[in-house]
Amino acid sequence: MLDWEQIFATRSSRMRASEIRELLKLLDQPDIISFAGGIPDPALFPDVAFKEAYSDIFSSAQVGSALQYSVSEGYKPLREWIARDVAKIGIDCTPDNVFITSGSQQALDYLGKLFLSPNDTALVTWPTYLGALSAFNAYEPNYDQLSLNGNRTPEAYRDTAAKNGGAVKFAYLSADFSNPTGETIDLAAREKLLALADELDIAILEDAAYQHLRYDGEAIPPIMALDIARRGGIENTRTIYSGSFSKTLAPGLRVGFVVAAMPVIRKLVLMKQAADLHSSTINQIAIEHVASRGFDAQVAKIKAVYSKRRDAMLAALDKYMPKTATWTRPEGGMFVWVTLPEGMDGAELLAKSIATEKVAFVPGKAFYADGSNANTLRMSFSCADEAMIDEGIKRLGRLISSAIRAAA
Ligand SMILES: Cc1ncc(COP(=O)(O)O)c(C=O)c1O
Repeated sequence: MLDWEQIFATRSSRMRASEIRELLKLLDQPDIISFAGGIPDPALFPDVAFKEAYSDIFSSAQVGSALQYSVSEGYKPLREWIARDVAKIGIDCTPDNVFITSGSQQALDYLGKLFLSPNDTALVTWPTYLGALSAFNAYEPNYDQLSLNGNRTPEAYRDTAAKNGGAVKFAYLSADFSNPTGETIDLAAREKLLALADELDIAILEDAAYQHLRYDGEAIPPIMALDIARRGGIENTRTIYSGSFSKTLAPGLRVGFVVAAMPVIRKLVLMKQAADLHSSTINQIAIEHVASRGFDAQVAKIKAVYSKRRDAMLAALDKYMPKTATWTRPEGGMFVWVTLPEGMDGAELLAKSIATEKVAFVPGKAFYADGSNANTLRMSFSCADEAMIDEGIKRLGRLISSAIRAAA
């Protein structure tokens, strides 16, 4: 048999099956209560609005261009809509600064490709979005832990990168309601990060996939908005902002976007021409129809449901979890992050949990670039109703309490 590994490029050796993808298969088993998938609840999709949008497209003169090839930058009216939407949170830009991608996951792949030569360093939070690590891995980088409390000097980052045979290229993070922790980065830390990026002369990749899903607390300006305010305009910024319609409208259409200074946009356009020419024309048009007719109402609808589920999960954790466990109290997004006592292993717990309690979650280790912190769990509240959340956390609390007793 052919030894494929011998002829695959070295970059392929870091492409591994994601634990999350494997776990998503569990969602098909009806008797499992799943807190595993970080996906929107399909019951909340604006399906009627999409039906109308596609029907309008097909019954208008636009149908020819909707089914045709289109420009790599993306559908202009959609880019105009996005420029108006991000202006509301202080990201003052032109539609030319907006580039449409096939989901924001594609933006992560392109940005990895654009910045990372083999052995370069990407700074990431510990933990970080697993899909970002998967996207960047193909470009053979090293990872270093991005410290958001300013306790590492620029030299420390630089020296570590040089020892690993490359340079620091960017810091990647989600400032609001991150996947996996649900946490928000405060204003002071955002400002400190901008100062660090200046000193290191690197880009900041701000992943804003959950931007619209704030349930309470004060909104903090995105890093991109702070960068624009500091430098008096988007063309002088070093932040690259990625957003998505996956969490608000529907992920199946695969429409996301990047907002950045023109030199970055021009490179991304060239990359898209080489990769897939453009994102689906008709889906971009449909997204623009649905967004311009009722985005705010759709966001209000999903926020009302998800915030109740977040509350239910926090209440159930308070009620059923042993005192030695801790967890985040997110102001938005889809995730709560649980930390168990040292020495416990989330993956072992998951195997037991599925077998005996029929509850799924994601072991936290996969979200650490160095595979550490096995005692953490990511719990998503987006797809379970309040009664299921209570029941699932009750079962999990029982399992964890007995595992802690057994280890004592
Ligand atoms: C933080 C974060 N970024 C990006 C993505 C990719 O989403 P999409 O490609 O659907 O826009 C996800 C999906 O879960 C995510 O959680």
